[in-house]
Amino acid sequence: MIDYSRPFILEFPKIGQTSLGFISIAEKDNLPFVPKRIYWTYFTPEDVERGGHSHYDLQQILVAVSGRIEITTELLTGEKLEFVLEKPNIGLYIPKNCWRTMKYTHNAVQMCIASNEYDEKDYIREYSVFLASREEKL
Ligand code: TYD
Repeated sequence: MIDYSRPFILEFPKIGQTSLGFISIAEKDNLPFVPKRIYWTYFTPEDVERGGHSHYDLQQILVAVSGRIEITTELLTGEKLEFVLEKPNIGLYIPKNCWRTMKYTHNAVQMCIASNEYDEKDYIREYSVFLASREEKL
């Protein structure tokens, strides 16, 4: 049984061969939720750390479709994990209530498959508020 309260690595199918190139597919049978939004970030300077927030409800899957992304996650339990994405057929599932930071190589293109539409009210952008929300969630 997959534990959807913790981050985990997903492997998407990779069809093809070195001489022809590859295709990877995200679809109903290999996604943990039905996507409502897809966005991508790119040209992030290497000294910039993005993220620095959690979500009350949103679940996400990050994929480095190009380049390399270093991601840290922290759950309300205090559990901290680190991940590196650098293969276009590998994704990271990020659950709700998970503080995350991301750093990118300059050539990195991060695709995010998201479970909900954009809603600024779904964000916690203050780390102290994230920590305080432990009390009500745990
Ligand atoms: P944010 O989610 O904070 O980016 P990251 O986690 O990569 O650091 O979003 C950055 C800005 O873009 C913020 O001002 C909100 C805006 N934004 C939208 O308007 N719509 C979206 O779907 C997303 C993801 C962000």
